[in-house]
Amino acid sequence: MFYPIYRARRIRGKEVFRNMVRETSLSAHDLIYPMFSAFGTGIKKEISSMPGIYQQSIENIVEEAQEAYELGVPAVILFGIPEQKDAMGSDAYSDTGIIQETIRALKKNVPNLAVITDVCMCEYTDHGHCGVIKNGDVDNDETLELLAKEALSHARAGADMVAPSDMMDGRVAAIRESLDNNGYKEIPVMSYAVKYASGYYGPFREAAESTPQFGDRRSYQMDPANRLEAIREARMDVEEGADILMVKPGLPYLDIVREVRNEFNLPLAVYNVSGEYSMVKAAASNGWIDEDRVIMETMLSFKRAGADLILTYHAKEVAKLLKKGYEAANKDRCGCGCR
Ligand code: PBG
Ligand code: ZN
Repeated sequence: MFYPIYRARRIRGKEVFRNMVRETSLSAHDLIYPMFSAFGTGIKKEISSMPGIYQQSIENIVEEAQEAYELGVPAVILFGIPEQKDAMGSDAYSDTGIIQETIRALKKNVPNLAVITDVCMCEYTDHGHCGVIKNGDVDNDETLELLAKEALSHARAGADMVAPSDMMDGRVAAIRESLDNNGYKEIPVMSYAVKYASGYYGPFREAAESTPQFGDRRSYQMDPANRLEAIREARMDVEEGADILMVKPGLPYLDIVREVRNEFNLPLAVYNVSGEYSMVKAAASNGWIDEDRVIMETMLSFKRAGADLILTYHAKEVAKLLKKGYEAANKDRCGCGCR
């Protein structure tokens, strides 16, 4: 392909051609919106580092979930802020826990919205770690029992899918077994298979009030330097019966998204995490970037890297932008703020 026989610009000259040859597409069907459900009533508290994202009590969760659904977002993933935290995170697997009540309210009021639950202990433990502490570290095998109970309790409350994010070894198998033995063999498991110990989770920990009270999560979450380990982690979860794999965070790990996509044939999700969201919001509020364009470009990068599903705090914004059409959402603005 040599100039002037080939001219790469010919096919870019008209919108109709650009639309024809576009290789990657994004649809609202791919979006999962994370929400933070807080114990109490009348609560709607904005996360200071995540403008537009709230801790909210159940009636407000229902209202916003309805809005998201009407915009075309098909699914939410729920995180809970319980009334009480304790060493064993007992609210996590209580049938009257914060998430269980939220699931019931959502399935009653927005029945066609898919409700996915984050299965982990860190939002429910007083020490903020993702499992049971023994000798100063999270005990893997004891934690498995709690995770299996938690996932089952979510299913019993009506969850459509469960998503373990704890990074314990063997948790997909433990959860699968507990669901299957109790009549929930049709409930899929979306595994946070490849989850790095990341600084990008900072704002989430404010949102979920889940900062570890001592140490950090490096004894269970992955080292950002590792690539082959991502394949091993994903393979374990495939063999244990995961239905969907996830890579998390998103933007700093697009290479890993591509590796996992090439290696496995399961559906693949990517989590565009809190810190990624906060950075876009901060730059946009300073007028340093065109927020809509950057959001759409970010979403496309996930699809191009091979992700099928995108968990993102931008889900409602993306659904709105998609309604305008791709070119309109990606248009250069003249700088005066007009469309
Ligand atoms: C809980 C969990 C975390 C996130 C999702 N589930 C935080 C963590 O592991 O500390 C992060 C999500 C985000 O940053 O948006 N295990
Ligand atoms: Zn956790």
